Amino acid sequence: MPVRPNFLERLVLHRLNRGPAPLLDLFGAAGFESLALALDIGVLEALADADEPLSASALAARVNAHPDGLAMLCDFLVTEGYLSTADDGYGLTAMTESWLLARSETNMGPWFTFWDELVFPFWERELETAVREGEPSQTIYEWFDEEPARWETAQDGFRATASLLVDDVVEAMTVPPGATRLVDIGGGHGLYAFELCRRHPNLSAIVFDVPGAVETLRNDVPPDVVDSIDTRAGDYRTDDLGDEYDVALLFNVIHAHDPAENRALFERVADALAPGGRLVVLDQWEGSGRTPVSRAGLRFVALTYLTTLGATVYSTDEVRSWLRAAGFSGVEQRGVGPLPGVAILEATK
Ligand SMILES: C[S@@+](CC[C@H](N)C(=O)[O-])C[C@H]1O[C@@H](n2cnc3c(N)ncnc32)[C@H](O)[C@@H]1O
Repeated sequence: MPVRPNFLERLVLHRLNRGPAPLLDLFGAAGFESLALALDIGVLEALADADEPLSASALAARVNAHPDGLAMLCDFLVTEGYLSTADDGYGLTAMTESWLLARSETNMGPWFTFWDELVFPFWERELETAVREGEPSQTIYEWFDEEPARWETAQDGFRATASLLVDDVVEAMTVPPGATRLVDIGGGHGLYAFELCRRHPNLSAIVFDVPGAVETLRNDVPPDVVDSIDTRAGDYRTDDLGDEYDVALLFNVIHAHDPAENRALFERVADALAPGGRLVVLDQWEGSGRTPVSRAGLRFVALTYLTTLGATVYSTDEVRSWLRAAGFSGVEQRGVGPLPGVAILEATK
C-alpha cells in the first residue's frame, strides 16, 4: 500500500486507534486494482513514451479511454504514489519508473499482472476452502493446465521476480569445477539455467517442467544459449529426471509440496546427481521475517502457498534434515537478492 500516512494520520490510526486503520487496506486493494488496470490498458507505458506530462484527454486518446474516467483513475494513482502531476498533466513517479516499466531491468509489472489476472481470482475462489479444509479444491497449477494462456501469464510473472534475483543467485551458488550438466527442476521460464550457461560455457542445462510450461519456454530461449539449453516435460515427482547431473536446481519448488513429498523429491534428485553433484534450493524461509514488511511478506506468501498449492514455507532446519536424510552433506546457506527472507541452501551428494 504505497500511500504513506502522515504523522497525524499514523498517530490517529495506528498509535491511538481512534480511526479505522483497515481503511488503509481497503485503499490498498483499490490501489492494486487501479494499478493493474493502468498496466493492462497501457497508461504507464503511454506516459513513459511521451517526453512531457500528458493531460487526461491527451492520455485518453493514446490508451482509448474516456477522459473523465481516466482522469479519476489517474488522480487516485497520484495519491497512491504511482503518478505525479505537473503542468496540468500526469507523469510517472520514480517508483513507477523503477518497478513498472517494460524498459526497466527491474520491471515487476508482469508479476503484478499475474497476481491480478490469476492469483487473486484463485484466492477469491479457494481461500475459504483452504482455511476451512487445509488445502484448495485443486492447485493453481492444475487450474493453469485448463487454459494454456494462464501458463504464459504465470511464467511471465515468475520470470519478473527471477530477474530481480538471478545475478545474485548465480554468483552465490557453487558450480563444481568441471561441471558440464545441470538440471533446473521446475525451471519454468529458464532464466536461471540461461544465466548459468552464459557464465559457465562448458555447462549445458535441461529445464524440467510440466508440459504447459515447457511449451512456453521452447520459444523463449535466447539465441546466445540456445545450443546449451534443452527441455524435458514431465512431473518431477514421478517421471525420469535423467542422471549423472553435476548440478540440480530446485528453485521455488518445495513450497508447493508437503514434507513427505519433498523428502521423496530430494531422494529422486540425489539419484539423478553424479557423486559430488550439488543440489541448490532457493526459497523463502520460515522464521526469516525480522522487520514489519518482511514479516508481513512471509505470512503473505505462506497464506498464498496454502491457498494456491495446499503447502507452505519451511524452515531451513527442516529442509536441512531432509537433505541429510537424502544423503547430502556440507549444507550451506546464503541470503540472496533484495526481497526479504529469500536464500539458497546448497549441499553436496
Ligand atoms: C514458482 S515456479 C518457479 C520457477 C523457477 N524455478 C523460479 O524460481 O523462478 C514453480 C515451477 O515448478 C513447476 N512445477 C510445478 N509442479 C511441477 C511438477 N509436478 N513437475 C514439474 N514441474 C512442476 C511449475 O510449472 C513452475 O514452472
